[in-house]
Amino acid sequence: MSHLKVVVTRNIGAAALDILNQQKGLNVVLWDSEDRVVEKDWLDANIKDAHGLLVVFTEKINEELVTKAGPNLKAVSTMSVGVDHVELPVLAKRGIKLGYTPNVLTDAVADISVMLALMASRNVGQAISIAQEGKWPGLPWSPFGFCGPQISTSSAMGLPTPRTITAGFLGFGRIARATLNRLIGFGITHALYTDSGKNTDPDEEHEKKDFSIPVTRAKDFMQVARESDIVFVLTPGGKETYHLVGEEFLQAMKSTAVLINPSRGTVVDSDALAKACREGWIWGAGVDVIEGEPNVGSDHPLIKEPRCVVLPHIGSATTETRTAMARLAAENVVAGVLGQPLPAEYPV
Ligand code: DGY
Repeated sequence: MSHLKVVVTRNIGAAALDILNQQKGLNVVLWDSEDRVVEKDWLDANIKDAHGLLVVFTEKINEELVTKAGPNLKAVSTMSVGVDHVELPVLAKRGIKLGYTPNVLTDAVADISVMLALMASRNVGQAISIAQEGKWPGLPWSPFGFCGPQISTSSAMGLPTPRTITAGFLGFGRIARATLNRLIGFGITHALYTDSGKNTDPDEEHEKKDFSIPVTRAKDFMQVARESDIVFVLTPGGKETYHLVGEEFLQAMKSTAVLINPSRGTVVDSDALAKACREGWIWGAGVDVIEGEPNVGSDHPLIKEPRCVVLPHIGSATTETRTAMARLAAENVVAGVLGQPLPAEYPV
């Protein structure tokens, strides 16, 4: 059998590379770096005649690249659940399959979504910098220092009327549902959601009956803004959701609410979000993604904003999850070049 060439644009770890290397008949061409984005010259020189391409989401899969690969290309596999870096019609036109990595990262991203909600509402950004900048000695404990809204509910607080806390979701796919499941344990009382404009994932079945609290589809997405105490942005990126959250949405939110974005930076207008935090339209924000990342310096409006907690896109960063993503990406590309059904195929 002649060799099937598989180009891999990042070192995705031994467990996944073993899957490729142990597959008979593959010629694996690897950009052997874990943290450096593949150089264009290297990719241009190696992509020709590839049967399979395994990438991470920093690579743009477009007409130019696919044309350079040539007619052998059968499968592109991305080590990500997001596919907004892939021009789907370019693959569809040529019958190239696309593999992606859903499910395996759901728990890790749901964990970080809850973490960001807690961090944003409890002023953790400001609190950590006070400690790190050596300002704690001048700040004795004070009765209302650092206080923010509490996202858990409990009768033990002895409040005159029971509190209702609504979690709002822009996009209600797997990660949103896993996030809600975690929040129910905190005592969230209601959930409100909208689909992400177009529901791009055919797997998404909204199993509202699975939740022990009322889960309601919002009349429109501004209702999510108006009625939620925490808004989670969990939509896919891309043109359809570009700046879905802008000034109008943020101005409609409660002044005690927080906005959490663990999905794609392009969905939220950063300038509008920084202004919303600065001018007190909302309580604060927690983002794991920012438009234009990783070129986000210390002068970025969201980094400078004390009420915004910023993480550098680490939502799926647990060893277990990244290993599972890498393995699934490897299995997808192997199946694709062999002409077999992909374990996780994204419909293009
Ligand atoms: C994805 O998979 O799309 C994430 O953004 C990286 O885990």
